[in-house]
Amino acid sequence: MIVLVGFMGAGKSTVGRRLSVELGLPFSDLDDVIESRLHRTVREIFAVDGEAAFRRAEHETLASLLTGPDKVLAVGGGAAEHAGSQQLLRAAQVVYLQVGYDEALRRVGGDAGRPMLARPDLADVYQRRLAAYESVATLTVPTAGRGTAAVCADALAGLARLSRASYPH
Ligand code: S3P
Repeated sequence: MIVLVGFMGAGKSTVGRRLSVELGLPFSDLDDVIESRLHRTVREIFAVDGEAAFRRAEHETLASLLTGPDKVLAVGGGAAEHAGSQQLLRAAQVVYLQVGYDEALRRVGGDAGRPMLARPDLADVYQRRLAAYESVATLTVPTAGRGTAAVCADALAGLARLSRASYPH
């Protein structure tokens, strides 16, 4: 099981899909699974039930996917901040894709499907989350100015290094 975390626009889904092909594992995007479970879009869940309800659904869905079959799982940018989800992530193999704030905003543009982009304090949210991402990461991969292939190759090399370190023989 490999979990990808990082701020919106870090490339979790794009890199995750490519990693899953390289590793021969299925790929899941946590937001997509939440949407199909609740039969609503993330945008609707935020608008109707609020962020706290979304975080609860995110936590429950994360818990069930982490105990399911092996996969590459991209997790939305806010999960690492929720205490329960953070605890689950700390026990998993987590690749943190680092992205600068300006580059993240350039990549996601004004996506209406991402309700957090409407927050006036988004820059503070970003700053606050950096420590949360670090705290759950087993591997950190910078993405600034780099393409999917390079990021994916770094992640694979880092994961191989980690697995050699845990199983030296
Ligand atoms: C969120 C990020 C989104 C999605 C939801 C909330 C956040 O996922 O989970 O809109 O709080 O940063 P991505 O990081 O895949 O955009």
